[in-house]
Parts: sequence; C-alpha cells; structure tokens
Amino acid sequence: MCGIVGYIGNKKATPILINGLLSLEYRGYDSAGIAVLENNKIVVMKDKGRVNNLNNIDGINNLNGTIGIAHTRWATHGKPSKENSHPHLDNSNSFAVVHNGIIENYNELRNFLTEKGYTFISQTDTEVIPNLIHYYYKNGIKDENVFLRAVKSAVDDLKGSYAIEVISPLFPNRVIVVRKDSPLVIGKGENENYIASDIPAILSHTKNFYLLDDNEYAEIYTDHINFYDSSLVSHSKAVKNIEWDASAAEKDGFEDYMLKEIFEQPNSIRETIGSRLKLNELCSFDDLDLSKEYLQSINKIYIVACGTAMHAGLAGKNAIEKLCRIPVTVDIASEFRYRDPIIDDKTLCIYISQSGETADTIAALKLAKTKGAKTLAVSNVIGSSITREANYTIYTHAGPEIAVASTKAYTSQVVLLVILAIYFAEILNSTPANLLNDLKADILDLPVKIETILDQLEPIKDFAKKVYTQKDMFFLGRGTDYNVALEGSLKLKEISYIHSEAYSAGELKHGPIALIENGITVVSILTDPSLVEKSISNIQEVITRGAKTLVITNQNLTNKHFDFVINIPNTNPLISPILSVVPLQLLAYYISKNKGLDVDKPRNLAKSVTVE
Ligand code: G6P
Repeated sequence: MCGIVGYIGNKKATPILINGLLSLEYRGYDSAGIAVLENNKIVVMKDKGRVNNLNNIDGINNLNGTIGIAHTRWATHGKPSKENSHPHLDNSNSFAVVHNGIIENYNELRNFLTEKGYTFISQTDTEVIPNLIHYYYKNGIKDENVFLRAVKSAVDDLKGSYAIEVISPLFPNRVIVVRKDSPLVIGKGENENYIASDIPAILSHTKNFYLLDDNEYAEIYTDHINFYDSSLVSHSKAVKNIEWDASAAEKDGFEDYMLKEIFEQPNSIRETIGSRLKLNELCSFDDLDLSKEYLQSINKIYIVACGTAMHAGLAGKNAIEKLCRIPVTVDIASEFRYRDPIIDDKTLCIYISQSGETADTIAALKLAKTKGAKTLAVSNVIGSSITREANYTIYTHAGPEIAVASTKAYTSQVVLLVILAIYFAEILNSTPANLLNDLKADILDLPVKIETILDQLEPIKDFAKKVYTQKDMFFLGRGTDYNVALEGSLKLKEISYIHSEAYSAGELKHGPIALIENGITVVSILTDPSLVEKSISNIQEVITRGAKTLVITNQNLTNKHFDFVINIPNTNPLISPILSVVPLQLLAYYISKNKGLDVDKPRNLAKSVTVE
C-alpha cells in the first residue's frame, strides 16, 4: 500500500515528484525516495522517514532531470531503512523501479538471479524486479522494443500484486508502467505526462486520466503514450475526465485532513444523496439496473468489507433487513474469503471500499463471482480496482478522503446503503410508501442536523481534555447504537492509541463488566427509543462500579447521573449512526490532538491496504 508518482516532460521532475508524494503520504510513510534521469545516469535519492526528509538530502534541489519516478513506502518486506526504500536499481544501475504491492515468489526469483550472479542490497521483494529486467534486457535482441519486452518478461515471472514504474538511462525518453491488483493512473498533460497510484497526487496538474487496467502496459513519452495488453499487442485507450477539485484534496485551512473531512460531512452527504433520492419520488440509481425478478430471486445478501467500511455495512444490514426482509450477513473480507461461504446465483454480494483497492475486499469479490453471485461495489474512487471487478458499482461521491482514519466515507457509505435499501424496497414493494417517504425526509435533513452537531464542539473538546490520559475506554450501545460503538472505538484506537473495546450494552454483564473499575471512561450511545431504557440500566451498572460516563443521545435524559451528555438531533434509527458517529469522530480527534499525535497519519496504519 505504498504511493507512487512519476513524471515525464520538460519541467524539473524532482519538485513534482516530491509534491506528489506529499499528497500520497496517507498510503504509507515510513520511507520515501525518487529516481531521476540526470546526464544519462539514474540518480536515486531516498531515505527512511517522512517524505519531507527528502528535502534534506544533499543535492536533491540541484537535480535538473525531467523524467523521474518516486515512492512513499509502507513496509511489508524488510524494515523501514534507506536500503529498503524505493526506487531500487539493478546491479548495473541501468534500470530503476518503484513498486507497490507484494511479489509472493520473490525468494524463488532471488535464488534464480543469485545463481546468475546478481547480488542484492535490500531485504525487499521489489529488488528482484530491476534485476530481472536487466537479465531479460541483457539476453534480448537489442531493438527499439527491447526495454518493453524485458519489462514484460520480468513481469511474466512475478506472482502477486504490483503497480510498477521503470526508467532507464539506456532509453531516456520513456517511463514504462504496468499494474496488476494495485492501482495506477496516468495523467495526461500538454507535452508532459504524470503517473500516480492515486488521482489526488496529480490532480493539480491535470484532470485527464488514463486508468490502467490489470495486466496492461503503458510506454509513456513526453508527447504520447502507447498502451499494450499482456501480450504486448498495442491498443488505444480512452481518456477519462475526472472532475474532482484539486483544492478538495488539500486542507482548506483546517489543521488536519481528518478535521476537514469531519466538517465536510454535510456536503459529502448531499453529494451522496445527489439525485438518487427525492421526497415523494421513487429512488433511482443511474448506475444500477436490477430487475424486480432478480431482486425477488435473491434469498441472501452478503455485505463484505474491512475496517470502517465493514461498520458501515452493519448499518446497511439493518436497513436492508428492515425494509426488504432479505437476510443479510456482514462479513470481514479477510474472513469471508477463507470460510467457504455459501454463495450461489441467488446471492447478492455487496462490497464496500472507500479506496476500492483493499486487497482482501477485492479477493472476496472475485471469489463470489466465481460462484455465480452478482456483485455490487460501493466505492468512493472512480475507476478503482473494485469497481472494475464488480458487476455493478454505486459511488459514494464523498470526494477524496486523505486522513487515514475514515470519517466522511463512513457516513456517505451508510447513507448510500440506506438509499439502496429503500430502492430495493420500492422495487419489491416490501415497505409501505409512506414509511419510506418519512425515511427519505429524514435522510434529506441529515446535512443540516450534522451542521448543528458541528456547531457544538466545546463539550466534546472539554471531555477529550478530561480523558486523554486514560489507558482504556469502553463504548456501549444496543442495536444500531452498538454498530456505532464499534466505529467510535475503532476511531479512538486508530488515532489516539488508547486501548478501547466496544460492547453490546446487554452483553456487558456476561464478562466485560469485570474490567470496569473506578474512574474508567464508558461512552454510551442511546438513540433508539425502543432500546433506551434497557441501555440506561446497563449504564447504571457501570456507574455503580465507578465508571465515568459520557452519553451521546437524542433522548431527553435528565437526572440520570451521567457525567457528560452530548445531545444530538433526533432521526430514524436506521440512519442515527450518521449523526451519533460525528461526536465520536470528534472525540477521537480531540483526544489525539491533546496527546500531541499525528492525527492524519497514525502509526502502523495506511489508508489503502493493498496487501493481504
Ligand atoms: C484501512 C484504513 C481504514 C479503512 C480500511 C478499509 O484499514 O486504515 O480506515 O476503513 O482500510 O478501507 P477501504 O478503502 O476498503 O474502505
């Protein structure tokens, strides 16, 4: 899950590469490096640590080369170190490679190359690639296409996932790229071209993109690009206009991306709703054509995802089951793919992935396809890998999410899944229209209701100040409030490194209550009127045992002896997670700030997990 940037044109490559990497640090940030063609040589500058460290490398600002490749790393093979940083060179310094993904058979390839006399400096899987390219180049017929053929022969030997950029002083007018199961896009400019693993890295330079397909090669020159399939047969490719606003990928005056993205939620939800849902009209999806016969034939739905996206899936399950009466199972993608799930052509599998690049989720989708199920992707990134694999895609349209901890993508995913449930229910006629219309009105009111929560930051900031030194915290809820408790707990862990657990409030007495002791913080979510009284009894149990309690509620709860109460607006329980999660996002954010941590780039995490 590393970040890749590349440039070929008439400008100095180095600042373009470094700026691109800076906007990609959310993909990984334990080391970074660039390779630039300079006076017919490859110059590699790289180091352990953040991208900004590159600016301290002697001579980096004097590089004048106009062709280069760059990488920000999230270590998989080999610890973060200068040697293990990309780009990697072959033994003769003829080929420089950056790579995102994992080469599963690298040991075998390393042994093969070692036998041929090649040596290795790093512990990475990547270093076999430039050496394999050199091996095939050395043994190939030296014509104009030998570079491309050598890259292809090397790639044919690789097992695993990869997005690769290669440059060579032997062919100083081109960059060769190829991908499989790892993202790569090419940005088209005027007499210059850009390459990146993610669109935001080069969005300030162009809005015209080629989205490279799996097993597709591109030979990128300053003024043209040749595309080839996996057998090196050339083809033409359509350019795609991506209308994201470059400034949307910047901080807009907020201290951190995460805070900006939390505050963007009223708008991102408006974008998600778009023209799909209107009062007194049937919901519609431009991008879906599921027939009534097909929906009637479905006897089971799986929702599969990882992390926060999986938590959004839990809210989706509630909505689909309630409105459509179809059983829904929510699975963690890394479990689903190995547990031999019961899937056939009467199963609909919904995959949720903000990035659309999460390796486990994509693999779980491929599995369902082989078993005859229809697959539907819910993603935020246009043209991402998952959207190209799925039978259908619906986009959240939440705009680029940069902070590692997901916020606006979650709320947009929940909104979209609930709209999808209404759309299914209307086709199936499974819920009375007046109830669906009330729910639609509640969905349309969400943006304004979130704005009211965002207007009251002080109580959350105060509470964060009081509890940020705690070692453990608990999150409790029942029903949909339990789903939100899971997400609140995950947010806290991710960015504050405080150990936290989320429990169904009713389950507490079956074990976890043993952990409650004097002074421990328990955060409870109470929004579902039918469950509030029962949850209050559970909270009383922890108060009796000395817990400090924060309650997030839309109910009128006076005189209940809670230490802190945050009131949020009322709404339909199916969509209450969209409101109750906001104070939890802010709580995690302010606790992390109080601890002086890097909110946007928490340790050990990456935004897009393209490895198993
Ligand atoms: C990583 C991120 C999480 C995210 C999860 C799934 O673990 O740190 O924030 O929820 O991946 O990502 P996806 O892009 O598939 O939604």
